[in-house]
Amino acid sequence: MTSAIEKIRNGVFIITAKSGDILNGLTAAWVSQASFVPPLVSVSIGKPRYTHEIIKKGKNFAVNIIASDQIDLARHFGFGSGRNKNKFEGIMYKTAKTGAPILPDCAGWMDCRVIHEYDAGDHTIFIGEVIDSGTKENKEPYVYNREDFY
Ligand SMILES: Cc1cc2nc3c(=O)[nH]c(=O)nc-3n(C[C@H](O)[C@H](O)[C@H](O)COP(=O)(O)O)c2cc1C
Repeated sequence: MTSAIEKIRNGVFIITAKSGDILNGLTAAWVSQASFVPPLVSVSIGKPRYTHEIIKKGKNFAVNIIASDQIDLARHFGFGSGRNKNKFEGIMYKTAKTGAPILPDCAGWMDCRVIHEYDAGDHTIFIGEVIDSGTKENKEPYVYNREDFY
């Protein structure tokens, strides 16, 4: 039976982060706008995730908004942990201001520095100030469909 919480509709995002020489990223659906001025976004990251550790240490993350033709990329970052493999091997990326990886061909990206973090049960909500961003006009953001992943 579908629960009410599963009826919340989300996009799908790849949240990347850098701490020292270490890069990692995961797929996330629990991402939202949080403020216009200053421009803030929130991401909810499970405490056991390797990316959680990297965001906490590096105090940065990038939100890569996946496009409808990038489901394979979201699967790549959404299964298995960067603790056991280098998820960036063979993946092209650039960096902007914080050093968090920006993935090419996404519908949009936001480079963020962490300004707050809130304990949220088994997750932490990181609030990031958007300090750089970009979009690809011809790319439509993907809307999460559970059947594409499970
Ligand atoms: C479609 C989808 C959405 C997900 N959303 C989230 C999310 O919002 N927050 C989160 O912490 N993990 C989420 N995950 C799970 C992580 O992407 C997954 O556990 C990942 O392998 C963690 O990698 P890491 O240990 O390298 O950080 C999602 C996975 C998928 C496939």
